Amino acid sequence: MSRQRILVVDDEKLVCWTLEKLLTEEGYHVKTAGTGEEAREIFNTFAPKMVLLDIRLPDANGIDLLEEFKERDEDLVVVMITAYADADSAVKALRLGADDYIGKPFNLDTIKHVVEKTLEKKRLRDEVNYLRREFKRKYDFDNLVGNSLAMIQVFKMIKVCAETDAPTVLILGESGTGKELVARSIHFHSPRKDAPFMEINCAAIPENLLENELFGHEKGAFTDASKAHKGIFAAAEGGTVFLDEIGDMPLSMQAKILKVIDNKRYRRLGGVRDIEANVRIIAATNQNLPELVNEGKFRGDLFFRLNVMTIHLPPLRERKEDIPALVRYFIKRFNEEYGMNVKDVSKEALDCFMKYDWPGNVRELRNTVERAMMFEQGEYLSISHLSPEIKRFAEDISPSPQTEEPVATKTLTRVDQGEKHSPQGPRKRDESAGMKYTFLLPEEGISLEDVERQLIEQALDRFDWNQTKAASCLGLTRDTLRYRMKKFGLLGKKATSP
Ligand SMILES: Nc1ncnc2c1ncn2[C@@H]1O[C@H](COP(=O)(O)OP(=O)(O)OP(=O)(O)O)[C@@H](O)[C@H]1O
Ligand SMILES: [Mg+2]
Repeated sequence: MSRQRILVVDDEKLVCWTLEKLLTEEGYHVKTAGTGEEAREIFNTFAPKMVLLDIRLPDANGIDLLEEFKERDEDLVVVMITAYADADSAVKALRLGADDYIGKPFNLDTIKHVVEKTLEKKRLRDEVNYLRREFKRKYDFDNLVGNSLAMIQVFKMIKVCAETDAPTVLILGESGTGKELVARSIHFHSPRKDAPFMEINCAAIPENLLENELFGHEKGAFTDASKAHKGIFAAAEGGTVFLDEIGDMPLSMQAKILKVIDNKRYRRLGGVRDIEANVRIIAATNQNLPELVNEGKFRGDLFFRLNVMTIHLPPLRERKEDIPALVRYFIKRFNEEYGMNVKDVSKEALDCFMKYDWPGNVRELRNTVERAMMFEQGEYLSISHLSPEIKRFAEDISPSPQTEEPVATKTLTRVDQGEKHSPQGPRKRDESAGMKYTFLLPEEGISLEDVERQLIEQALDRFDWNQTKAASCLGLTRDTLRYRMKKFGLLGKKATSP
């Protein structure tokens, strides 16, 4: 690692000499100047990380030099060297951006300590700023992709929520629709953006620990509490608390959250007084809150308090027009992340993406693109590495009898029933049907939903309602099967018929 450069500016030769020797021994690269003029000259070529600057110089005032140097390099670390009589100037210097000051006469340990501490503080500050910038970049509007009407509405709501600094925001949507991304976007576009965004997943933390996590505890609040502990509300002071999966929050905690919203105060475990909370609460859930209220699992008063600024994120299947932009966004992102060079998505793959229902929403789409890119050998994202559930839509377009496993239904007539190993069979039987069809569409038409429902019920019946086996028989994942069962009201229902 290159040595950090320090410029010492002092008209007392002995001070310069002593500091140069000391700091060089400590591993810094040091230069010294006895006048303002000399200091300016060295500053220009040496580009120091830190300046130790005497306030009184023969040809200049250290305070003016401080301003000059800071103007040229706002990241410069400056420590003023001052006589005790100069306390006023030291305060002025601190106001003008000096990082610290050392009084004369000084002892060498103090110098060492101040230089080290100030540089470390600066390094940490730089790191935090860098991370903040990165974080902001990551959760900027640009990272929320979508051009459907529904998403444009969402963007508008994000803007309103960010600008109005409403005390609570509720984000609703199925899993993987982008609730967390929206919550971060609101925070990073709000006046609270420079304060922390603290999130907690209410479903992931056991009930007895949740209160401690949120509100903290006083020393001695319980047997193991040897020290006081700040909770998330204290850590987020001035910023945002994101209560994820609020539908899973225990009723007892819901009452406490309601109190925080109403009174802007909370109490630590074992505490005797209330603490003020200046935070905005953003809550999210994929559950149906009114239903939970009806079932007595969610407090109606909290729901009404939360349900003021509400953002609904529609499932991806209801805004399929967002898919092309999302796919291209993910390709670009993974190209950058993994140093790849996939040019675009192939038409065939995009067709499949547009037809598939995406029960796992944008998260599933992201994972699908990521996985396919990992295995992709060509320039375009092909269908080769898509899951069978997604790929089967491509087979709809150009079917291959070898891979297409036909299924029988009560309502559909299978063209090649009993003859699937005889390629000539179906062709001879029904030329008019066109040999590419495995099933014949009845003259009078058919309800596809009905067919889907019947097939699902049959598969479930066949495997005694074992969802994993039924899903596998239908070429679906269990999640997709469950999603479809929910759609048809089959979840939690077991067929009585054999
Ligand atoms: N509109 C979008 N644009 C770009 N990426 C998105 C979008 N929506 C979601 N994503 C991405 O999809 C993934 C899932 O999003 P996120 O975690 O915000 O969903 P969620 O609704 O909070 O899901 P869950 O309910 O499971 O917690 C993330 O990687 C996120 O970056
Ligand atoms: Mg989430």
